[in-house]
Amino acid sequence: MSETDDISMPSLAESQNMGFMPLDSVFQPTHQVKLFRGSSNPELAQAVANYLKIPLGKAMVTTFANNEIREKIEENVRGARVFVIQPTCGRVNDSLMELLIMIDALKRASAHQICAVIPYYGYAKQEKKTSGREPITAKLVANLITTAGANRIITCDLHAAAIQGFFDIPVDNLSAMPIIAEHYLNKHIPREELVVVSPDAGGVARATNLAERLHSKFAIIFKRRPEPDKLDIIDVVGDIKGKTCIVVDDMISTGGTLVKGIETLVKHGAKRVYAAATHAIFAGNAVEILENSPLEELIVTDTIPLSEAARKMTKLKVLSLAPLLGETIRRTHFNLSVSELFT
Ligand code: R5P
Repeated sequence: MSETDDISMPSLAESQNMGFMPLDSVFQPTHQVKLFRGSSNPELAQAVANYLKIPLGKAMVTTFANNEIREKIEENVRGARVFVIQPTCGRVNDSLMELLIMIDALKRASAHQICAVIPYYGYAKQEKKTSGREPITAKLVANLITTAGANRIITCDLHAAAIQGFFDIPVDNLSAMPIIAEHYLNKHIPREELVVVSPDAGGVARATNLAERLHSKFAIIFKRRPEPDKLDIIDVVGDIKGKTCIVVDDMISTGGTLVKGIETLVKHGAKRVYAAATHAIFAGNAVEILENSPLEELIVTDTIPLSEAARKMTKLKVLSLAPLLGETIRRTHFNLSVSELFT
């Protein structure tokens, strides 16, 4: 029996049906698969491990007295294909550094391949210079992860899809839109009543993707940031009067974009406003302002662990990306199509 039997493998017939294996092939991948996690989102990592029906690898993460992160891989990974789950959220610098150190440890322990699974990719907001003498942190982080030794990246709803190109290794930028779309389809809202709204110009591709999945109309809000984390609205382009609006974004940080967007939609005559975002950062008083807004319901995913206050939000529903991440890992391991998951 191959060591890869610890993840359910497509049968020979299934594989041949998918057209990636000649009819007489008995080829089986030979590398063992291992799943490790950092400390930024243990719940999500465990849910992915449950989906894959494999245990999480043993690793020790602690700190030296001088606050440096100390890690040790506590099982053999020689020759293995290793997936490390670590969204770079929470204490972003620590999460990132922990990921880099774990990749380095795995590389030096002779892992065959290291795939960094980063459901939320931090430092993505500065993905281009908007004025002189600014850094491009999304590129810097891509360089750090690659230099540490990652061979592949799995991430989700990158702040800007072009960040994929900052890596010279394969990147799978998954989308939560099919899962979010399914949630709204189950509400059976008449499609002529529904409008998907992008809260800014940067989110148009994401919002049109959701609108297509819901067969709905589309609108856009224009915003301006006079300085980081401050916001000026704006205007709405599109017919939203008397409609049920779904505002969709990649992340909610201070909540300013969403709350001002919702208020603007209500002011322009929207009947009802729902909102969805992949990454629930909920910085500062985001929970409070969202709870007090005219929002009916907020959908987020579990790429980032929620604070106690966020967990108590009456308007909040969390959809898990664990099955999507787990299935992507399984398909990556068996060299099966990942894009099929989105068509
Ligand atoms: C901006 O381009 C992003 O897509 C989000 O709209 C933004 O980062 C959300 O931030 P905040 O919640 O602080 O307004």
